[in-house]
Amino acid sequence: MASYEDVMSLSVRRGFLWPAVDLYGGFAGFYDYGHNGTLLRRHWEEVWLEHFLGLNDNYYLIDTSTILPEPPLKASGHVDHFTDLLVTCTRCGESHRADHLLEAATHVEHEGLSSSEVDAKIREAGIRCPKCKGELGASRPFNMMFPLAVGPTGKDAAFLRPETAQGAFLNFRREFEALRRRLPMGLAIVGRAYRNEISPRQGTYRMREFLQAELQIFFDPVVFADQVPTASVADVPVRLCWAAEKNEPTAHDLTSKELVARGLPTWYVYHLVQVQRFYLEVLGIPREHFRFAELDAKERAFYNKIHFDVQVRQESLGGFKEVGGVHYRTDHDLAGHEAGSRQKQAVTVATTRLVPHVLELSFGVDRNVWALLDLDYTPGERATLHLPPRLAPIGVAVFPLVNKDGLPERAEALYGLLRKRFTAFFDDAGSIGKRYARMDEIGTAFCVTVDHETLEGKGVTLRDRDTQKQVRVPEGDLPARLESLLSGEARFEPAA
Ligand code: GAP
Repeated sequence: MASYEDVMSLSVRRGFLWPAVDLYGGFAGFYDYGHNGTLLRRHWEEVWLEHFLGLNDNYYLIDTSTILPEPPLKASGHVDHFTDLLVTCTRCGESHRADHLLEAATHVEHEGLSSSEVDAKIREAGIRCPKCKGELGASRPFNMMFPLAVGPTGKDAAFLRPETAQGAFLNFRREFEALRRRLPMGLAIVGRAYRNEISPRQGTYRMREFLQAELQIFFDPVVFADQVPTASVADVPVRLCWAAEKNEPTAHDLTSKELVARGLPTWYVYHLVQVQRFYLEVLGIPREHFRFAELDAKERAFYNKIHFDVQVRQESLGGFKEVGGVHYRTDHDLAGHEAGSRQKQAVTVATTRLVPHVLELSFGVDRNVWALLDLDYTPGERATLHLPPRLAPIGVAVFPLVNKDGLPERAEALYGLLRKRFTAFFDDAGSIGKRYARMDEIGTAFCVTVDHETLEGKGVTLRDRDTQKQVRVPEGDLPARLESLLSGEARFEPAA
């Protein structure tokens, strides 16, 4: 685990990410990714796609427009309801997000309060403007979408999309026709979303432009439970807290059976298990750092009927923080678009005609990348980023032990071979110890060193980041060995 300063310092020094436009003093809510951050993020996206598209052979990746005209966003409810409460200081004019002010003063999350409830709580807690201590005015809803003027006249109102999800809903009918008219059907989008956050903060936690990875699963609610292998997860413990407990660091382990007994649909619990598997088994998040957190009727988004956030406990952000969500959106979106567009969204499957319901598995990519940097980074003298090998920006680094005796040429030739199959890096600058240290800090899982024994046909050394142990490997065996280590199929076994 790492502090906020540790994560930020690693990110900036080692090419992961930093505030955008910092040449001009920064641009609040926007971050740029460097070479290592871009690779880490891309690897996260790859494992996400593999895991979630792998749930069903009728789940696919699509890519849709990031700018949407007003009518679909009116139909989806975003024009009228996608708001946060804003309070403005009557003295200096600074604006603040009301629930953040309350949270800072009371150390309790305050989502889902009405304007009058928020005003009463602000008065009760005696909260004043954090900037000038002036009196705060009454709160008012602030729409978080970025408006745009499209075309030369600018008459047609449009917005940057506030979530990728709408792209899947707008294309549902076309894809349903193209994909053999089957349900469940899944449409995933990994792409940018934009929100004019009132107070962007905490690194990549609250940004104005960010990446989402969302899978919309369209299904028939009458038969969905029979279409997913719910029995296979019946005894799996799911880690979660209930709505009333989410300000505590609490988590219970309840089996799928117990959750179903408490009223959650089997298909919903099945997907909780799959999301949990992704975090614990693919991303390697320690169990005690993971939980689902229930949102009650007041707190959940206007389109959700069942809503659990996915949370990861991070030292840099002060506790359990949301990185994703499992949302049962019912037929809210397709029914809304049917009314808004006057185009039927009902489909016929076998003999049933229905407007499908939607289960959404939604994740913020930047928040997930930050969580990995927090949990996997051990700062200090032997600073190491213990990423799962598949996620590491660089899978394998190749070094000559010294810069003479033909070792650099031999190492470069090996690097040329490996980089065709892996994200590889060549380094001949500085002492071998410093080169290992640089690679450890950015999470490079394996380092290969070419030494004098290599010239005698005795192979190369392969070093494991986490144990710092080394083994000698014949050069010809190296690609296959790395393949199995990087995919997680094999574990590094140091020489006996
Ligand atoms: N389509 C559903 C949806 O957008 P959401 O809870 O508003 O739901 C989904 O957002 C995820 O997107 C969140 O769990 C979070 O990981 C990420 N996210 C939301 N707002 C964000 C922001 N301002 N900055 C970074 N990530 C954000």
